[in-house]
Amino acid sequence: MRRLFPVTDLTAADAPREWSLDDLADVYAYPGTDGPWLRANMVSTLDGAAQHDGRSQPISCESDMRIFGTLRGLADVVIAGAETVRLEGYRPARAREAFAARRAAAGQGPAPAVAVVSGSLDLDFSLPLFVSPLVPTLVLTGAGAPPDRISAARKAGADVVIAGEGSRVDPVRAVRELADRGLRRLLTEGGPRLLGQFVASGVLDELCLTVAPLLTAGDAQRIAGGPAVTVPKRFALASLLEEDGFLFSRYRRS
Ligand SMILES: NC(=O)c1ccc[n+]([C@@H]2O[C@H](COP(=O)([O-])OP(=O)(O)OC[C@H]3O[C@@H](n4cnc5c(N)ncnc54)[C@H](OP(=O)(O)O)[C@@H]3O)[C@@H](O)[C@H]2O)c1
Repeated sequence: MRRLFPVTDLTAADAPREWSLDDLADVYAYPGTDGPWLRANMVSTLDGAAQHDGRSQPISCESDMRIFGTLRGLADVVIAGAETVRLEGYRPARAREAFAARRAAAGQGPAPAVAVVSGSLDLDFSLPLFVSPLVPTLVLTGAGAPPDRISAARKAGADVVIAGEGSRVDPVRAVRELADRGLRRLLTEGGPRLLGQFVASGVLDELCLTVAPLLTAGDAQRIAGGPAVTVPKRFALASLLEEDGFLFSRYRRS
């Protein structure tokens, strides 16, 4: 892997080399802000597909998965839409030795919590994600979610957080509710329908986007869906890594 931006040293530091998880954790460290910081991590093909055959794995690669793991290793909470949880078979986040010291120094527990955003609560609450995580899984939903499903979530051990009226979660309120629980280093892994709402509501601070050197055509979703914003949101490039033609970019809100 090599760093293309920012260019620090055209010789040694930016030459292709093995990047340890520690090196990646340095590059992807959260900024030292007091308030919440919401980062998204997504992968896209050259022609904008966010999945192939309904999954993101076919458009990912080993280095992308290492960055995926690093971002989890730095986060307080991983936020995912219910469809991604259902289709990608989400499991609890693991405690990883590689990030243990860094997490302890940052006052974090051994693994991030997972927060599932769902209005229907049509989730299998018997899965390990709900019954045997290291840190209780959060379920973000609206006040009007089906009461029997709220009870089922709580019975399984999930921490149900009401963050909206009706069955909908308000993205701004979701971020605030998480921050109120001390969860400030936020990481969303999509999917596109959820990310579109974070973008539209103006709460997304950072996008870690892997561009895969693949073309798929077809009608796959883009990384963010839903209604377009009135004025495109401007982000600035913060870092860019490359390996085997995959680009690992990080953009921050300008
Ligand atoms: N390329 C990538 O990096 C990437 C990342 C993640 C996922 N993906 C792919 O994206 C696809 C799934 O993404 P998706 O966009 O269809 O779905 P999604 O965003 O993962 O989940 C949508 C679901 O989340 C819940 N939800 C979203 N916003 C909500 C709100 N404001 N209030 C309440 N509930 C809300 C709803 O769940 P209920 O139906 O339970 O109410 C909704 O059906 C999969 O193919 C996956 O492989 C790709």
